[in-house]
Amino acid sequence: MIKIHPYSKLPIQSVQEELDQLNYNLNKMIAADNPILYSAAEQLFIAGGKRIRPIIILNTAKFISINKIISIEQKRLAEITEIIHTASLVHDDIIDNCDTRRGINTVHNVFNNKIAVLAGDFLFAQSSWYLANLNNLNVVKTISKIITDFAEGEIKQGTKSFDNTISIDEYIEKSFYKTASLIACSCKATVLLNTNSISENNDFYLYGKHVGLAFQIIDDILDIVSTSEELGKPAGLDLKNGNLTASLIFTLNKKQKLYKLINQEFQFKDNLDEAINIIKQTNSIQKAKDLAIEHIQLAIHIIKKKQLNNKNSIDLILICYYILNRFS
Ligand code: IPE
Ligand code: IPE
Ligand code: MG
Ligand code: MG
Repeated sequence: MIKIHPYSKLPIQSVQEELDQLNYNLNKMIAADNPILYSAAEQLFIAGGKRIRPIIILNTAKFISINKIISIEQKRLAEITEIIHTASLVHDDIIDNCDTRRGINTVHNVFNNKIAVLAGDFLFAQSSWYLANLNNLNVVKTISKIITDFAEGEIKQGTKSFDNTISIDEYIEKSFYKTASLIACSCKATVLLNTNSISENNDFYLYGKHVGLAFQIIDDILDIVSTSEELGKPAGLDLKNGNLTASLIFTLNKKQKLYKLINQEFQFKDNLDEAINIIKQTNSIQKAKDLAIEHIQLAIHIIKKKQLNNKNSIDLILICYYILNRFS
């Protein structure tokens, strides 16, 4: 059993310069001729976000490089990944009826659904253009799969809406497609872009997969236990939308009342609060956290195996602690 330290910050120190450059480049990369499209596309970038995906990619790049240099292509990959992530958020917010994100109004809320769909499409298209320009077919194949997986994950989630027979395995599978695939595939692509890599890309794919799954499990716990102010996006929205996440799935079978509330689709004003209180009365939130811990343990194990006195490995492990300690 690997000890989890109470570390609660993203390790940005060793990649701060690259992150500043990334923020500068992102704005240039999403420039569009049409002012409405440009304004819609830049809306979320301006608000910021944690940039956890670029931080993972840049730290992975440093870890696997013999001379600790991050290549231009790897920096570009970090930017491409953040654009794909942002595009998926713009579309996800339409699907989830989510009015705020990163502390500001969402694109479909400021503009409308049509513009938000197009702004998301535009961002996906821009990411494909920059991806093609990396001139690496293996990387193109690896990264383009993310967008297919995202769509598949959202559809899997939609078809299980308010379905109280959903199993924890189905929840994890959906979370892989929706969220973890992006982190797994971009970690793998970071290795593919390193010509003198000392590591195998499959290990980093798995590191990204487990980190991504833990990240989604914790995000889903936070949806239940946090406030909208803390999240910068509406709390309790998963359940309201019928997205039954780990803590709720663990509570099924323990509390019969929950079935009734789900069958009523939480349509009465206090239904949602009641469901959340029922979940909190059990150990289900801790069980969900334990599930995230399991995935984080697997991710840490992969890095520890490769450590080879590599100082940069510590940052990849700190990312793991950070994810878990978002909820404590
Ligand atoms: C939100 O991702 C979507 C999930 C996969 C849970 P983040 O929590 O990384 O969002 P930002 O980029 O920091 O806003
Ligand atoms: C992640 O799921 C969605 C994406 C991968 C874009 P969520 O629906 O839980 O993300 P949030 O909570 O809206 O950020
Ligand atoms: Mg959402
Ligand atoms: Mg969420």
